[in-house]
Amino acid sequence: MQASISRVKRHLSRWLAGSLLGLLAAGTVFAGNWLPIAKDGVHDPRSPAAKQLQEPQEALSRLTPDTTGNQVRWVQSLEKGEINPREKLFPQTEVKKLDQDILLNLKGGMPIVRFPHKQHTEWLDCSNCHDHLFERETGKTKISMFNILQGEQCGVCHGAVAFPLTECYRCHSVTRPGQTKNLPTHMNPQFHMPGRKGP
Ligand code: HEC
Ligand code: HEC
Ligand code: HEC
Repeated sequence: MQASISRVKRHLSRWLAGSLLGLLAAGTVFAGNWLPIAKDGVHDPRSPAAKQLQEPQEALSRLTPDTTGNQVRWVQSLEKGEINPREKLFPQTEVKKLDQDILLNLKGGMPIVRFPHKQHTEWLDCSNCHDHLFERETGKTKISMFNILQGEQCGVCHGAVAFPLTECYRCHSVTRPGQTKNLPTHMNPQFHMPGRKGP
């Protein structure tokens, strides 16, 4: 029993390491700045419309910078009022928001995951997640890092349209009492540097 558990763990960590290398490679696509529209491989550079669109560099460089993903810290940009996206297309649409944090991963070795409803419902409707991705009852959905790395659950958006999965500690953001392992340097008391802020 003991042996088979450690074998599973070994497999899992090797598999995690492999997936992570892939993620890191994908993360370098945006390094530094934004590709011009004519070179992004999405728009047809010969189309007259390509010249009418605003260049990402011009628009996005004005917003709160991030070190990852598409280089904008979107949650902060919205909170600071740097952007003011329209909430709905139709006047009759009811905009629903919820200010409730959900703590997940209460038993694992990584820090606890804090899922904030507030920041999500600033961008999304309840129906983007409920109930096809997550039950409306804390702890009822079987969520796992394996599924997330396969692009399911949190991974439907994170790594696709929201910050990438390489930012472990933006989700695993709450340390357990007395936790000293599996911490990023700025959370690790052994490496504590005065003035360093959390994730
Ligand atoms: C988008 C949010 C998110 C990101 C980013 C993320 N995780 Fe997770 N992780 C979760 C959730 C949610 C769970 C499952 C919680 C549960 O068991 O209910 C989880 C579970 C885990 C587990 C299994 C439980 C444990 O703590 O041992 C490991 C290991 C893990 N994550 C490692 C990582 C590593 C390493 C990274 C960065 C490469 C990472 N995670 C990035 C959300 C995230
Ligand atoms: C980005 C995804 C997402 C969005 C959007 C979202 N939720 Fe959730 N919600 C979750 C997750 C994840 C859980 C935890 C599920 C679990 O542990 O099984 C949860 C849990 C809940 C719970 C259970 C709380 C408890 O005390 O047990 C309720 C109620 C809930 N959501 C209501 C809403 C409502 C109302 C909205 C819209 C205003 C909403 N959610 C939007 C992801 C989301
Ligand atoms: C339907 C899409 C969607 C799903 C599913 C989703 N997220 Fe997010 N999440 C977003 C978007 C959009 C943002 C804001 C943009 C960004 O920060 O990249 C965000 C932001 C966040 C933030 C940052 C909040 C802040 O204050 O900066 C955390 C933490 C987070 N998500 C955790 C999770 C976890 C954990 C799960 C799974 C339980 C999850 N998300 C599932 C779309 C999603």
